Amino acid sequence: MTLPLNQILPGDCTEILISLPENSVDLVFADPPYNLQLQNDLYRPNLTKVDAVNNGWDKFASFEEYDSFTRDWLSACRRVLKDTGTIWVIGSYHNIYRVGAIMQDLGFWILNDIVWLKTNPMPNFRGVRFTNAHETLIWAQKKKGAKYTFNHQAMKALNEDLQMRSDWTIPLSTGKQRIRVNGTKAHPTQKPEALLYRVILSASNPGDVVLDPFFGSGTTGAVAKQLRRNWIGIERDKNYIKVAQKRIDAVEPVGEEMLIATARQPRVPFGALVENGILSPGETLYFAKKGRTARVLTNGHIRCGKITGSIHAVARSLLDGAPANGWDLWFYKDRHGEKCSINELREKIRSKGQKSEVKSHN
Ligand SMILES: C[S@@+](CC[C@H](N)C(=O)[O-])C[C@H]1O[C@@H](n2cnc3c(N)ncnc32)[C@H](O)[C@@H]1O
Repeated sequence: MTLPLNQILPGDCTEILISLPENSVDLVFADPPYNLQLQNDLYRPNLTKVDAVNNGWDKFASFEEYDSFTRDWLSACRRVLKDTGTIWVIGSYHNIYRVGAIMQDLGFWILNDIVWLKTNPMPNFRGVRFTNAHETLIWAQKKKGAKYTFNHQAMKALNEDLQMRSDWTIPLSTGKQRIRVNGTKAHPTQKPEALLYRVILSASNPGDVVLDPFFGSGTTGAVAKQLRRNWIGIERDKNYIKVAQKRIDAVEPVGEEMLIATARQPRVPFGALVENGILSPGETLYFAKKGRTARVLTNGHIRCGKITGSIHAVARSLLDGAPANGWDLWFYKDRHGEKCSINELREKIRSKGQKSEVKSHN
């Protein structure tokens, strides 16, 4: 069976996922029912009713029932994911701890949890708890140790050339982006497109297949189409399907020339800079922090005081074991004495295509 691409499949996600071919999807984004367990209507101090989530699809009789539902759809997602695939699941304190434990039990390997900080959260009207101003996204791979897509450079570029952190400040979906039908919200939990933009740009490449088993108003499909990914949505509510289809039909994909090459870049080892005479043995490298320097060795390792190793290992050691990418942390001095990132030298090699064609920077 081939994948039904760029379509909304109506029905229960677990049942539909079971009918799709295994190992066929690159990325899953899931925004499942949160099991908010709201018992009563909520009112503001001025006695207007709060537009909270109290839909049937969010109600479960017990934690056991919610866990069993969660286990079923997560297993079904895992089956359709490629071995190199990853999954994002978003939730709140009501469900995310249960979801995370079940993911680990099923063999998913957690890569990060992301905190989505809402700039405009709903106030805690009764003033009996802290304002709940964030949600959590779990990002996990299907199999520990498998290769997976992470467009590190795209994330860095999106963040003004600083490594993207795991706390994302993004407003709730309001204004023009919020879909309304006759003045009322078309979907109670429509996610901001900015959130999906980051998820899809970071963890997939153009042409990849992105699947959302709880499609709702189709935010995942809209952003996937915009970014020229294939998408599959599953949703069991006919009204939401109509809303999502209309929304996606109106999306224009970005021009192909606007897509930066987010595909995995050819690997360039630091030693290639030495081999090609771009950096010379004995040359000094400058560390981003603590005023430390290192010398380049003939074998592509560097030495900083008593520490010898790869640019990454020495950087890690200088940062007391914290994860470190040496390409971002070491600098050389150009012929004008300006400190420049060694990453630029690696890009030079990549852009020339062939190592042997690269000329020395000196
Ligand atoms: C939290 S909302 C997703 C909102 C979506 N991310 C958006 O931006 O609009 C969950 C959605 O899953 C749907 N749903 C709940 N249980 C489902 C199931 N078993 N199979 C398919 N869809 C389901 C609900 O109808 C609801 O639209």
